[in-house]
Amino acid sequence: MKTVEWHDTPGGAEVWLIDQTRLPLEEEVVRCRDYTEVAHAIRSMQVRGAPAIGVTAAMGEALAAVRAPDDTLNATIQEACGALAKTRPTAVNLFWAIERMRSAALRVAGSAPHEVRAALVDEAQRIAVEDEACSRAIGAHGAALFAEGDGVLTHCNAGGLAAVSYGTALAPLRAAHERGTRFHVWVDETRPFLQGSRLTAWELLKAGIDCTLITDNMAAHFMGRGRVQKIIVGADRIAANGDVANKIGTYGLAILAREHSIPFYVAAPTSTVDLALASGDLIPIEERDHTEVTQLRGQQMAPLGMRAAHPAFDVTPHRYVTAIITEEGVHGPPYVESLREAVEVARGKTLLAGEGVHGASR
Ligand code: MRU
Repeated sequence: MKTVEWHDTPGGAEVWLIDQTRLPLEEEVVRCRDYTEVAHAIRSMQVRGAPAIGVTAAMGEALAAVRAPDDTLNATIQEACGALAKTRPTAVNLFWAIERMRSAALRVAGSAPHEVRAALVDEAQRIAVEDEACSRAIGAHGAALFAEGDGVLTHCNAGGLAAVSYGTALAPLRAAHERGTRFHVWVDETRPFLQGSRLTAWELLKAGIDCTLITDNMAAHFMGRGRVQKIIVGADRIAANGDVANKIGTYGLAILAREHSIPFYVAAPTSTVDLALASGDLIPIEERDHTEVTQLRGQQMAPLGMRAAHPAFDVTPHRYVTAIITEEGVHGPPYVESLREAVEVARGKTLLAGEGVHGASR
């Protein structure tokens, strides 16, 4: 199944998610029957990854509309927008998707309740379809960057599990592999939530892509030994100047890449670009529960009562980024220009296809 799916069941509409907290050992599905369950799934990281949480939030909005009685329909839609927006602060795709749903609701304001519900379900499904198309386009644009025999390092999970399917950073690797290019992927474990060892490793093995798991602190060693020719990561929010917020540890990799003259690529849909923020210092960084650092799967790994820090993301300054791959192409510096142009082209296509917003205020 896809990472997130809309299902009309005999008991009513549901949003189905692959439970990413259970992978790789158990392949379980979470069935959300109302928007509060969707919000919980995002907060607890049963679904995670910037594009995936955007699509999931949109479906949560649609679910709120479908499940609400006529007399509280508008209030419930607003309530759901508020609750979903509070789940995670860094990935801008969440706010982008909520804005699109809000705009879709505004366009049918005053219509019959069944029309409002239909409009929101349509919009959520359109966002999901577009996300898959974005991943494919990122794959097609980025595949040529990877050559036979390359060692490619990636961090966190920016694969199919982080989107509806196919992924962002893993999309060019999948596309290159499908074209017959053979390379090796170094999979950073990605402490503390282990998205690399639990999710990226699972996906790459399924795709038949040659890969090796390393702990995060091994990256410099393999770069120094000439085993890494390229680095590619995803993004949770990209500021107008090209500064990139991504999983904690990304910034360090970018500095290491510069030291070793290794190209450092970022792959993300234009819905991850936040033109409203001039630079990366303005990106809100999520601080997650410290027990995710002090414990591993419920097992205490530090002295009881030990203080810990847990910023879930860091910001890589744009000067370290070789290129940003979006569904509109491969963009180089100056990012202020290339990203604005990419977002405008994408926004034009979305408007032509039926409305939407980019870089909306949040
Ligand atoms: O905390 P997570 O697992 O949601 O963080 C995910 C990442 O940092 C990904 O690299 C990013 O969202 C890009 S996903 C296509």
